Amino acid sequence: MKVEPAGALVGHIAVPGDKSISHRALLLGALTDGETRVRGFGRSGDTESTLAAVRALGVEVEEEGDDELVVHGLGLRGLRPPAAPIDCGNAGTLLRLLTGILAGQEGRFELTGDDSLRQRPMDRVAEPLTRMGARITTAGGRAPIAIEGSGALHGIEYRLPVASAQVKSAVLLAGLNADRTTTVVEPTSTRDHTELMLEAAGVRVRRRPASVSVEPPGRLRLDEVVVPGDFSAAAPFVLAATLLAGSELTVHDVGLNPRRTGLLGVLERMGARISVYNRRKLGGEWAGDLEVRSAELTGTEIGPEEVPRLVDELPLFALAAAFARGESRVRGADELRVKETDRIENVTNALRAVGVRIRARDDGFGVRGVPSRPPGGRMSSDGDHRIAMVGAIAGLVSREGVEIGDADAVAISFPGFFDLVEAVAQRG
Ligand code: S3P
Repeated sequence: MKVEPAGALVGHIAVPGDKSISHRALLLGALTDGETRVRGFGRSGDTESTLAAVRALGVEVEEEGDDELVVHGLGLRGLRPPAAPIDCGNAGTLLRLLTGILAGQEGRFELTGDDSLRQRPMDRVAEPLTRMGARITTAGGRAPIAIEGSGALHGIEYRLPVASAQVKSAVLLAGLNADRTTTVVEPTSTRDHTELMLEAAGVRVRRRPASVSVEPPGRLRLDEVVVPGDFSAAAPFVLAATLLAGSELTVHDVGLNPRRTGLLGVLERMGARISVYNRRKLGGEWAGDLEVRSAELTGTEIGPEEVPRLVDELPLFALAAAFARGESRVRGADELRVKETDRIENVTNALRAVGVRIRARDDGFGVRGVPSRPPGGRMSSDGDHRIAMVGAIAGLVSREGVEIGDADAVAISFPGFFDLVEAVAQRG
């Protein structure tokens, strides 16, 4: 796949439903008593894995259209052990959240995933869930994971050793079937989609600045989840429109949960021109339209406190920094090393190959910006969807285009990505 240079990005677009919220709508829908209608479901490789997983656990899901589903929940303890292991594919969110849910179900469950997922750390969920009374076996801290469900989980207070919404969510979801309050203390706040959806489902959720607690409910009821567009899918377009002179792009109905939109604040302090219109709540989540015009950027620094709010957008930030005047730096982002790939190495190799001056550090990277187009060239995503998207945007803003190896990886979160790029790219 080669993405040719573009002059500008112009138009009005929408992106698929938020991946984090789509996973949660299916997983929580599976635990409700009754029906949950999910509107705006984001179809992707990862969310198809979740759809297959809840079906394997006995949940009926009707597909009423490409982005509308009806989940027939089995109640808080109604999931049934399938005969075969559940394959979570590439989806870390699915594997970790489902481990939390299954810890409180009757029976023995086995979860596995693709080569990438089987290399990622799972002791971070096994450890707190074991403290709650679950019996969990991992393969040296990695998947496959075997879960011996327990009807007698204990509520705990757990201080997260890493800032991870997936670990926080796994513990809170196990807490739904515990004997008392479960509290998670966070070093730095991470995305709160689980808390918001649990509140919408009638759970008593107590939120304090650095912690969150759930009370075990008698039952869950969601009725409807409206999923906003995925900010992480909008972000590559926001960046390309910022970098290409003369751009005028509007992305409609994007999720604007403040714990997800760190990239907006960072780009704004670098000089970007991004306006938000129609800010409103969809269920418990903020959404709105983003209008982006091109701008000249200045370099900036990102530290550990800010990282969780843009953790999935840091590879894109590297490309923004390549165009910004001066040096930019990311610190405290060690977590990037245990994503779908080691994203510190991967983004460094990919952007160097197209002419960007970037250097990997243990906990982030440094970029020397040049406010002109890099030459372009050939890079590989190494199977990582976010790196493939960075490669595509690098192609648009390069002099000679970028050829992307393993470009199909975009389908993990955004199957129509390249078509949408071509629809808004102005050439010639
Ligand atoms: C996610 C949490 C983050 C993020 C991932 C989605 C979620 O992972 O990187 O893409 O939906 O909870 P961590 O919890 O590992 O930081």
